[in-house]
Amino acid sequence: MAVTTIKDIASAAGVSVSTVSHALSGNRPISESTRARVLAAVEELGYRPNRLAQGLVSKTTHSLGLLVPDLANPFFSAMAEALEVHAHAQGYSVILCNTNLDAEREADYLDVLLSRQVDGLLYFPGTSVPNQALQAAMEKQIPVVIVDEQLAQVPGVFVDNVDGGRQIGELLAGLGHHRILFLGGAESLPTVQDRLRGLRSALSLAFAGTGTPVELLQRFGAYRASFGYDMVHECVREGLLGRGGTGAATAIVAANDLIALGALRALRELSINVPNECSLVGFDGLEFTMLTTPSLTTVQQPIELIASSAVGLLIDRIEATLNHRDGDSAHPAIQVVHPVSLVVRESVAAAPGR
Ligand code: RIB
Repeated sequence: MAVTTIKDIASAAGVSVSTVSHALSGNRPISESTRARVLAAVEELGYRPNRLAQGLVSKTTHSLGLLVPDLANPFFSAMAEALEVHAHAQGYSVILCNTNLDAEREADYLDVLLSRQVDGLLYFPGTSVPNQALQAAMEKQIPVVIVDEQLAQVPGVFVDNVDGGRQIGELLAGLGHHRILFLGGAESLPTVQDRLRGLRSALSLAFAGTGTPVELLQRFGAYRASFGYDMVHECVREGLLGRGGTGAATAIVAANDLIALGALRALRELSINVPNECSLVGFDGLEFTMLTTPSLTTVQQPIELIASSAVGLLIDRIEATLNHRDGDSAHPAIQVVHPVSLVVRESVAAAPGR
């Protein structure tokens, strides 16, 4: 079967080849009725534009690189899916790379993405500093948008993690919890520190002047279920967590849902009742949190909203670069912050003995 070309579309629509090209790229204004004729011919003849040829002219590949640190974490797989959906809807395909928090692997993938001439990068750092490979990409003027973590001087989209921690703190303080175990991911991560900061300030405020001391025990590790599991066993062994006995924490705040899931499993093995002997809160709002027993109280991250604004911001920056507008100096580092909301479920109750 003969392949439909742009010339076939032009003659079917009764317009010139360049008008078809403008109608498809949106690069030049054309009338709505002409565009409609062109699109009808495209539909009727089943035309698929040759992206490679288009790219040679426009200097774009209509592809985006997406670097995520841990695809086994449902937060990142849900984010990757949502980003792909939004990018696809805008005419971009996505090349997905799982870095596994390995700097060397990340540098390799960045090289691959740059050699494929992606138009821009969506990057989940998983660390607190932009690495050298990313710096190099930015120096080459490849538009980059950081998602999830907040890195100074780099455009980014993330949530109000301090407020998420604050909402958890207010809930637990209201239920009488003043001895709390915080299980963070890596200590250097802005998401971890911000969630902890919000939690600490809400607890301090709630108990200020009451004579009740706030005790916020902290452990740091990784955003993994195994970390939550191990820490609960360790803290119970050390008498820091238990059945609400003297000096023991009465609630656990996990910096993400996976850590909370591991903690829940360990508490169950140790026959510590959630929530009557120990309350438990996660962060992310992943689907499984409503399926656990008890269902998990968590902070909901707006995954769809994060994805649509990250893709939108990146495409704006790509277009600014293509049009030789200096997007970066005009907007040094646009950072979009989305609100979060606490979803209260069965895993929290009044502190024991209250
Ligand atoms: O579960 C992954 C965690 O890492 C999420 O909380 C996300 O915000 C990231 O920081």
